[in-house]
Amino acid sequence: MTLRSGRQFLSIPGPTNVPDEVLQAMHRPAVDIYGGEHGGELFGITMSSLAGLKKIFKTDGETYIYIANGHGAWEAALSNVLSAGDTILVLESGRFAVGWGEMGRSMGLNIESIPNGWTTAVDPAKVEEHLRGDTEGKIKAVLMVQVDTASGCVNDIQAVRAAMNATGHDALLMVDTIASLACMPFEMDAWGIDVAVGGSQKGLMMPPGLSYVAANDKAKAAHANAGLRTSYWDWATRDEEEHYRKYCGTPPVHMLFAMRQAFDMIFEEGLDAVIERHRILAGAVHAAVDQWSKGGVFDYNITNPSERAPSVTVIRTAEGIDPGKIRTICVEKMGVTLGLGIGDLGGKAFRIGHMGHVNAPMILGTLGALEVGLDALGYLDDNSRGGISAATAYLASALKAA
Ligand SMILES: Cc1ncc(COP(=O)(O)O)c(C=O)c1O
Repeated sequence: MTLRSGRQFLSIPGPTNVPDEVLQAMHRPAVDIYGGEHGGELFGITMSSLAGLKKIFKTDGETYIYIANGHGAWEAALSNVLSAGDTILVLESGRFAVGWGEMGRSMGLNIESIPNGWTTAVDPAKVEEHLRGDTEGKIKAVLMVQVDTASGCVNDIQAVRAAMNATGHDALLMVDTIASLACMPFEMDAWGIDVAVGGSQKGLMMPPGLSYVAANDKAKAAHANAGLRTSYWDWATRDEEEHYRKYCGTPPVHMLFAMRQAFDMIFEEGLDAVIERHRILAGAVHAAVDQWSKGGVFDYNITNPSERAPSVTVIRTAEGIDPGKIRTICVEKMGVTLGLGIGDLGGKAFRIGHMGHVNAPMILGTLGALEVGLDALGYLDDNSRGGISAATAYLASALKAA
């Protein structure tokens, strides 16, 4: 017997649910990419989407669209501002800044890092101390993520910027927003970020396949002398007027239809409202996990509540409790797919994605199935049962306060 026939729920931290409107926008024939009526339409979509990205990144800098996943945008960002032999400082807070740094190493960069376990966010004081030690100014860029999707932490970008400013160090600040853009506040210009990276498949509600880079004037100045530039990623070609150049080849026609539709939906709801929805839905998830974790079967991976991401919650199971069993009962018996623990948390954690096209009933459905699964596995007791009541009470009070 299963209870899963019906709409399947994808509750992983990316790729996330693609709205029907976005899928439908892609469901049309390809168009002529070279001009005429349809080429003209496509060029218009590119230009309006580049402008939309500026609104979402909150920047007056330049934006770029790459036909690539997030790793592609990482390479694009590094290659456009750095030269082989340059040193970069990686601020660890889980898996992803580390991965970005590893990519830099493979491109010929020297890596310094500020190690940090997987349970806390970046400590800005350590960044300040490290940069003060760089008396020769070897470090050319500081790399960090806003949300680390593997550990579930959110980093305080403004505090890191303030730490950098306090040292007077000239390094570029490069931030990965792949798991946070349009899920929480991000203000590239106001926060002094030089290069930002994003991806289509999480908060931006599109299929995977596009990624984005935004660059301010300081980054553009570094670009002029960057030795790692290659023709595919190079901003110089993409800055040209011709549509074909903006993608270094054929534009991703259907993904552009998807992006225009997704951006229309974000702007129709209002970026601030989208972010507030994420904040409240994350609060509901946390209310449920607070309650369930009283049973000692699992707990948050991120210890400090203020460092828990509004887009993904990573739950670490106690010794002897297999997170795979929890994921299996949810997907096989109820059609709810939860994320698995990755990297250091492989086999030790599971993840709940709550970003992008997600609303209260979807979150409650996911949490409800999880509570059923936990109960059926014998992981809840009188003390820890009631996560759903806690989540609904949280949402009710948020609605009352609104
Ligand atoms: C924060 C973050 N950065 C980078 C990536 C890598 O993106 P992609 O898998 O699209 O290459 C991911 C993917 O989950 C991510 O969550």
